[in-house]
Amino acid sequence: MEYLLDTADLNEIREINAYFPITGVTTNPSIIAKEKKDYKEAINGIIEIIGTEKMLHVQVLGMTADVIVKEAKLLKETFKANLFIKIPVSAEGLKAMGILKKEGFNITATGILTSQQIVMAVQAGADYMAPYVNRADNINGDGVRVVEEAYKIISRDKNNKAKILGASFKNVKQVHDAILAGAEAVTVGTDVLKQLIYHPYTDWSIDKFNSDWGKAYGNGKTLL
Ligand code: E4P
Repeated sequence: MEYLLDTADLNEIREINAYFPITGVTTNPSIIAKEKKDYKEAINGIIEIIGTEKMLHVQVLGMTADVIVKEAKLLKETFKANLFIKIPVSAEGLKAMGILKKEGFNITATGILTSQQIVMAVQAGADYMAPYVNRADNINGDGVRVVEEAYKIISRDKNNKAKILGASFKNVKQVHDAILAGAEAVTVGTDVLKQLIYHPYTDWSIDKFNSDWGKAYGNGKTLL
């Protein structure tokens, strides 16, 4: 299972990366813009923290295949990283995926709202496909069902290596259900990642262990 962090906030990435083995970081133009920095500075800051082996997904902005291909090449020249080029699914996006795949780029198809968009992106050469689970739910769709149906279809090809990268999550239930439905990778914001770890009763249990131990051996004592 792969867990990625969906943020460009360096403090958040540093904090989470120090205690959880994230598989990588995903960004998009809105996420980068939020940092109010030069984009090269923002992306290099992430690479400094996660290194050059963990995946870094960076999105293009071009509206034509020609511009998307040029942007992908610029990103590859500019950043020494395990780069995945995020390309929104559209006619021009699919065309660019086909061109870039032949040239050995790693590709993440993004902005996905339907199962067929996932299946089409696999055909075009995507390595990861990112369905926006919460955005689908927001418009009275069913983000988890999108994952479930697409996984069923793409799994028929036993040679398929492309993975569903569930995205746009707002709570633990969406993440858990998407994983059960077939997402082999998920990207989550810092808040949701923390919610995936947290349970109040676990905290209560930790407090109880410490107070029971403290009564017998002294408050704050550890095994050391
Ligand atoms: C995926 O890679 C996107 O960056 C992201 O998950 C979109 O999430 P949002 O719907 O919270 O903006």
